[in-house]
Amino acid sequence: MSAADQILVTGGAGFVGSHFVRAACDAGSQVVVLDDLSGGPLPALPDGAVFARGDIADRALVGRLLREHRITAVVHFAARIQVGESVHKPELYFDVNLVRALALLDVLRAEGPNVFVFSSTAAVYGMPEIVPIVESSPLAPINPYGMAKLGVEHALASYGVAHGLRWAALRYFNAVGAHPDGTLREAHDPETHLIPLAIDATFGRRPPLTVFGDDYPTPDGTCIRDYAHVCDLAVAHLAAIELLRAGTLVGAVNLGSGAGFSVRQVLEITARVLGRSVPHTMGPRRAGDPAVLTASNARASQLLGWRPARNELATIIDDVVRSRR
Ligand code: UFG
Repeated sequence: MSAADQILVTGGAGFVGSHFVRAACDAGSQVVVLDDLSGGPLPALPDGAVFARGDIADRALVGRLLREHRITAVVHFAARIQVGESVHKPELYFDVNLVRALALLDVLRAEGPNVFVFSSTAAVYGMPEIVPIVESSPLAPINPYGMAKLGVEHALASYGVAHGLRWAALRYFNAVGAHPDGTLREAHDPETHLIPLAIDATFGRRPPLTVFGDDYPTPDGTCIRDYAHVCDLAVAHLAAIELLRAGTLVGAVNLGSGAGFSVRQVLEITARVLGRSVPHTMGPRRAGDPAVLTASNARASQLLGWRPARNELATIIDDVVRSRR
């Protein structure tokens, strides 16, 4: 990464966004964070990073940031992130995650830069028939969250053809972990994700965890997921920017560890790391949960040279515990 990079990071106050900001600054980039703080307060920014509070669809603000800071790449994280909420409030998800993203793209079309990295999701695949999932698998999202993200991917591909936009859509599987120094954390409100809920339940900060279904067609009956450390995800974004700046077409890339763990396995490993059992009860299935979601990360490895370094579940859980003290 060259020191000349000036990166606009939308949603840089969020979970993956804040870890990317740290990684980009550590790599010598200049970072401008644009966030409306609707997802929570701004974590401490690295020295030299600039913060602007505002909306991604505020064309005047985005245009001013692009010009004033001579932005050379945009990494777009800002989005609503709850799959369940998207089913009940589709208007919110199509507005924030699609319509406003299109407004952002429109400013870029007019004012540049033409390097764009998009925070996408495994939810674009819906209920996959074959795992591990490759990028050419059918795209059939089953909820507005995945549909809106896929809509942006289609727009990126079209802008690439029509306007020469160089883009990457990084499809995260389960983003987990926290910066090992304990200063950044996953802080969703409400928190719905398995690992922080399991840790908080173990420390008595929340009620016992409900396991959503143990009658899935998996070896132990609980859902299998692919957990990728947020610091590893951050590194993949830096690699994508570098390739895009060099003129390589990146497109859609899965970001997952390639390994699957069941909910029961996650609870067992959490218990081992913490030295006490995770209080939990069995409950019914959660609507919309596929039995198994695991990524082929062959493309990430070949194209981005991506080698996840912290994807041992015990390491992930250790990092989350440190961040929640
Ligand atoms: N789970 C429980 N109990 C809980 C919370 C989760 O049993 O209290 C289970 C879920 O059913 C699932 C697994 O733990 O099997 C992981 O659930 P998370 O909520 O942590 O994550 P998801 O797999 O539901 O969601 C992730 C990303 C989404 C993305 C989705 C794609 O967080 O952004 O994968 O399906 F859209």
